Amino acid sequence: MNHSLPATTYSPVMKGFHWATVLLLIVQYALGWTMPDIRRGMQPESLMNLHMSFGVVIGLLILARAAWRVLTPQPAPDTTLPAWQRKAAAAVHGLLYLLVLVLVFTGWAYASQRGWTVTLFGAIPLPALFETGSPTGHAVGELHEGLVTVLLLVVGAHVLGALAHLVLWHDGVMQRMLPRVGQGR
Ligand code: HEM
Ligand code: HEM
Repeated sequence: MNHSLPATTYSPVMKGFHWATVLLLIVQYALGWTMPDIRRGMQPESLMNLHMSFGVVIGLLILARAAWRVLTPQPAPDTTLPAWQRKAAAAVHGLLYLLVLVLVFTGWAYASQRGWTVTLFGAIPLPALFETGSPTGHAVGELHEGLVTVLLLVVGAHVLGALAHLVLWHDGVMQRMLPRVGQGR
């Protein structure tokens, strides 16, 4: 690759962040849907504790990824694409970061207002975001379940977009985020 030209693909670090987020979100949805339904007065069991730990990991990962995105040069949007596609992609990408962060916040709020301690895999206890029984914490926590579906829909639109570039438009947008095995970078 000629390093004097602007990059046309994401860096290996950005690709790593992207695909690590995808894997962790798959695990997180699987845990969220298999763990038992919450009943009044119950304490979190192992699947729920895993869900909360993975949620915190996803939160840290998305913050590190956002920082990396802002602090290091990113490939310019493909200028051969129509403006509406560039605008739509930028909006969807921003929304994806926001939704993941807000999901972590609402999940943590849900746990806090129930008096559950969120830990990183049982090792590191984290502070509560709201007091036990807090009406605000309850209202924020109640948003978690609905936002789970909103994230799924936005991810669906994002993936459909990526697939359209790959199979309909053949414009190399998908390749910007795929690992380039055996080509050095
Ligand atoms: C991006 C991160 C997250 C995703 C994608 C996610 C996803 C989910 C899903 C799919 C459910 C099941 C909802 C249902 O019953 O249909 C759920 C529930 C739950 N999550 Fe998360 N979660 C995330 C982060 C967190 C975090 C960080 C915590 C706590 C620290 C947390 C705590 C909870 C709790 C307590 C429930 C049960 C309450 C409820 O059903 O609303 N989640 N989550
Ligand atoms: C199989 C699923 C997925 C595929 C095929 C896919 C594909 C892609 C592609 C091709 C790009 C580059 C777009 C461009 O060059 O402008 C991209 C960027 C991006 N994707 Fe995905 N994606 C997937 C899942 C996800 C998920 C679950 C998230 C949730 C957070 C996500 C968040 C992003 C973001 C924020 C960007 C912008 C670049 C960045 O800041 O990392 N993607 N994706």
